[in-house]
Amino acid sequence: MTEERTNIPVLARSGHSGHCTRCLTGIPFSLVTIESSKLPFIFYCLGSLDLLNTLGTATKESERESWRNDIWGLQASGIWGSGFKPSWYMTSHDAGDDPQRLNKYESEFDTPHMIITYTALVTLAILRDDFTRLDRPGLVTFLRSSQREDGSFTSDPTGGDTDLRLTYCAFVVSTLLNDWSGVNVEKALEFVRRCRTYEGGYGSAPGCEAQGGPTYLAIAILRLASDSPEYLSESERRQTLRWLLQNQDESGGFRGRTNKDADACYCFWCGGAIQILGATELVDATALALFLGNCQFRFGGIAKAPGEHADPYHTYLSLAAIAMFPPSESVEGSTWAIEPLDPVINAKLSTAQWARDHIPLRST
Ligand code: FPP
Ligand code: ZN
Repeated sequence: MTEERTNIPVLARSGHSGHCTRCLTGIPFSLVTIESSKLPFIFYCLGSLDLLNTLGTATKESERESWRNDIWGLQASGIWGSGFKPSWYMTSHDAGDDPQRLNKYESEFDTPHMIITYTALVTLAILRDDFTRLDRPGLVTFLRSSQREDGSFTSDPTGGDTDLRLTYCAFVVSTLLNDWSGVNVEKALEFVRRCRTYEGGYGSAPGCEAQGGPTYLAIAILRLASDSPEYLSESERRQTLRWLLQNQDESGGFRGRTNKDADACYCFWCGGAIQILGATELVDATALALFLGNCQFRFGGIAKAPGEHADPYHTYLSLAAIAMFPPSESVEGSTWAIEPLDPVINAKLSTAQWARDHIPLRST
């Protein structure tokens, strides 16, 4: 190994924790225009603190309690079942103070959303919620209402997007519920198969170009459907792995598509798929750490590429990638030690375990 390769900078842990804590308390005003992305934004902030093991010190219990209550305020029930809606502003117009009607959606504007439902469940697990408020039968109805004839899922039961993100979220929700009665698994997997491309990666929908994000989703979906690799032949697995691995370019980072530049988030999306496929040792962890080390913003947080500004999305996914592919101990290894990750659920291992333990209906 050359000297340059071993010259990995320290991972500025407190800087990254500080970046995510500041983003939590001072969500920029510009984000009001993407109000529906607020929960995913909070998820990436809290998830980063969780991976850095600073959630308990960087936030107060009163704040965590308040976030838990805010998230439960997004749970909506109605004719299409229950789940979490994207915004607190999406309320029934005439619910008034009637507790019977307060949490009922009455129009197509405040229905649950599949991605927000996945995000809410994982964020509540990060916050160690006891899930006593979860409407489990409603959640199964919501899943059932969201699957289409071609096996794909819609973002909400009245329509919206229908790409692999929704299938992945539906599969994680079913896994966490330990109840698959809301999903036609065979049909869903047929849709996933149609998203596979000639390169061996997956596009977000049939006919789309292979990209690291949907490829992670497809591989995670196949793993959630079955622990055995029966849904992928050995030659398919090898072709997918080859495509994923050649996305780690000379910078040490991963790109998301053929002929694009490396971007920190794909270190997770491509790296997560590689880890699930059981080929962790084929990733160059030293080169990956060099790239992510260079993506660190000098005032905290990790950016998509060197010289760019940091954000919680790239910070979280970079930390998640480091958790899977830590550089060897000899190269400033101690600052790079991140809590172990569940690559399929995309959460800290102990958080994913909390979700698996507390979300299913308990028989007692
Ligand atoms: C950018 O496309 C696309 C992304 C940054 C998202 C990719 C990640 C996913 C689809 C997974 C999302 C998962 C969940 C659970 C919501 P681009 O065309 O701007 O970027 P590119 O040029 O790098 O391909
Ligand atoms: Zn990115």
